[in-house]
Amino acid sequence: MSRTRLLAESWTAIAQQYEHRLAPLFQPWLDELVGSLDARDLPEGDVIVPACGPGIELLMLAEVLPGESRIVGIDLAAGMVDVANTRIAATPDRLLRQRVSACVGDACNLAILGRPPALILSCFGLQQMPEPSEVLLGWLASLAPGGLLAVAYWPPADGQQDAAWRALTDPALFKNPEALPLGWDRGIAARLADAGGTILVDDAPRHSMSFGSPADCFEVMMEAGPLHSRLLRHGPEHMRALKTSYCSHFKAPSLPFTIRPNAKRLLVRRAVVPSAL
Ligand SMILES: C[S@@+](CC[C@H](N)C(=O)[O-])C[C@H]1O[C@@H](n2cnc3c(N)ncnc32)[C@H](O)[C@@H]1O
Repeated sequence: MSRTRLLAESWTAIAQQYEHRLAPLFQPWLDELVGSLDARDLPEGDVIVPACGPGIELLMLAEVLPGESRIVGIDLAAGMVDVANTRIAATPDRLLRQRVSACVGDACNLAILGRPPALILSCFGLQQMPEPSEVLLGWLASLAPGGLLAVAYWPPADGQQDAAWRALTDPALFKNPEALPLGWDRGIAARLADAGGTILVDDAPRHSMSFGSPADCFEVMMEAGPLHSRLLRHGPEHMRALKTSYCSHFKAPSLPFTIRPNAKRLLVRRAVVPSAL
């Protein structure tokens, strides 16, 4: 099975679990990303939201952006898009329902869009895409002149300061963070600037997430998050061994614990191309 198909199946299977168990923990980063936008600073055009998942950010954007822009979420997983469309249909505001939609699709390449969007905003989907730096450059290029790219993603291991978060995919990552290979996003801001982007924000915000125990954290990630695709691909035996190895690194594996991972946030404006005389 291709990785794209695996992700689509996995996120479809856990869409509701993600919405209830994990999305609330990710909300501070989403608030921060949407909060970094200035609606007055956007050119005309639609808003595209790659990897919109259950669509929480779609309605947040509709609240903060001016009334004419359409807001379109794109997600690989049909189950996520169903949850997003249910959320949109449940809003009592008819105008808002008309402006906002979600559809199934691979958001790696937005060059196929008709009119260039004014804003591309994506939270926690980019790190799942193949060639994420090429995807980012492609998103910047597909914007309208003066348009904004606003992205939050989970950095590769060398950019993650919280060892307990970093090691969820590989317990060996508890050790020697300084010896980790450089991740895909090294130098990405410079590449975006070379491609005509003005970097407005380039930071790594940290927030706390609390769990019943390290084992509980692992289970949430497996039953409601990114480790579920690994369960689909490798089966429960593999996941049991991974969890045992993960938990063995904690002195108190059954006590509540709080982690403070950092995401990576980029806000980039596409150059306004001077019109021809
Ligand atoms: C962790 S969820 C994030 C959802 C939402 N943006 C949020 O912040 O709650 C990751 C989402 O990325 C989607 N995704 C992964 N690869 C994708 C791709 N190539 N195109 C569109 N969506 C993708 C998955 O289907 C999943 O819904």
